[in-house]
Amino acid sequence: MIAHDSNFLKENNARHMWHPMAHPAEMIAHPPKVVMAAEGVTLTDVDGHRTIDAVGGLWNVNLGYSCDPVKAAITAQLDALPYYSAFRGTSTGPAIELSYRLADWFAPDGMVRSFFTSGGSDSVETALRLARQYHKIRGDRDRTKFLSLKKGYHGTHMGGASVNGNANFRRNYEPLLPGCFHIPAPYTYRNPFNETDPERLAGLCARALEDEIAFQGADTVAAFIMEPVLGAGGVIPPHASFMPKVREICDRYGILLIADEVITAFGRTGGWTGSRLWGVTPDLMCIAKAITNGYFPFGAVMISETVADAFESNHDAFGSIGHGYTYSAHPVGCAAALACLPEMDKADLAGNAARRGTELLAAAQALKDRHALVGDVRGKGLMVALELVSDRETKTPVDKATIGTVFETAYGAGVMIRVSGPNIILSPPLVITAEDVGTIAAGLDAGLTAAGG
Ligand SMILES: Cc1ncc(COP(=O)(O)O)c(C=O)c1O
Repeated sequence: MIAHDSNFLKENNARHMWHPMAHPAEMIAHPPKVVMAAEGVTLTDVDGHRTIDAVGGLWNVNLGYSCDPVKAAITAQLDALPYYSAFRGTSTGPAIELSYRLADWFAPDGMVRSFFTSGGSDSVETALRLARQYHKIRGDRDRTKFLSLKKGYHGTHMGGASVNGNANFRRNYEPLLPGCFHIPAPYTYRNPFNETDPERLAGLCARALEDEIAFQGADTVAAFIMEPVLGAGGVIPPHASFMPKVREICDRYGILLIADEVITAFGRTGGWTGSRLWGVTPDLMCIAKAITNGYFPFGAVMISETVADAFESNHDAFGSIGHGYTYSAHPVGCAAALACLPEMDKADLAGNAARRGTELLAAAQALKDRHALVGDVRGKGLMVALELVSDRETKTPVDKATIGTVFETAYGAGVMIRVSGPNIILSPPLVITAEDVGTIAAGLDAGLTAAGG
């Protein structure tokens, strides 16, 4: 490691680097925390201050920071074969083995093939392209449109940004892909129907999907993409009936269902996948993040038998995949993923996420009872959000300074949280203990108290 003293790092922080999802001027005015080391679920910053990581990296370090078998697999693979391509004509051992293992891992979701990528945005882009190609192969050449949920997050490539449901990620980059349309999300706290009953809201949103399909013309729609539990949009778990209704509507109109499981695959919701949690088998499934525990940039699109059959039984130019990345099936990423799978099983990550998630949600509810700043609390497994408001009656979103105080105070008290708009998002590693849940809640309590609410 290059050793720079802490003064050098502080002086140069955000001066020569633009940060994703941040205003460069704001980063210079308020430089980011500098994380230097991590162990278990604890981070150490440049001043030696330690915090429990209630963010889990970025929803990805599910096994924590000390997963030695994964580190060992990465170094062993670097020694054996640090890179080779999977473009037509060549493959590698880890790529073959991982695709074999994933077919087994995702069999309950009906997935039979993998297409490897370098991360979540790549996976979404790949799924959108494969969906269009699927219809072209079958002669449905007009099926090019995509439908998605407002508040949904699908990464930042042009395709993903186009199906994204948040203006912040869209408007500075417009015009985006034509033919992308959005329907209301099953977000009980705020929705255009003023519906507060989650089940009735799920029905209304499903009806909105059907209306949009009719309006567009069903034979023009390629796919509907959704996160089983919306993550970056503020942790919005739909009612259990929503995704099954979506599946049924997609089936009725010949529309593919893409499950964007970049966050939800590998246990975070308390189910091994979000689709499985809701009892749905999608046509394509985007995965990334925890597949390598965040230790290597990697992802995949998992492909169902229906889609695989269409491609594999086609022998003209339409079936050939004109898409892929230099780092698709990177052998080091494949080796990392192969080492992660048994570790996830051993640690019973989905089970622990369900147990600790119940405790964390209860702790967040208790904070809502004590602090008027907390307008809403939502969660599923170890995805939890507290939405802060300055006035519970009007649901006015809290200002930046107030939520900034919550963040800084919690950090000082030893808890790293994530602020996204008016939401505090909690997505700790899935290996946290009940005691860790208590620590996170205490840090938040201190933050909310300091913010005056
Ligand atoms: C649901 C979802 N899809 C796609 C992405 C994009 O993944 P990446 O940032 O790895 O490109 C994310 C990232 O958070 C995500 O949450």
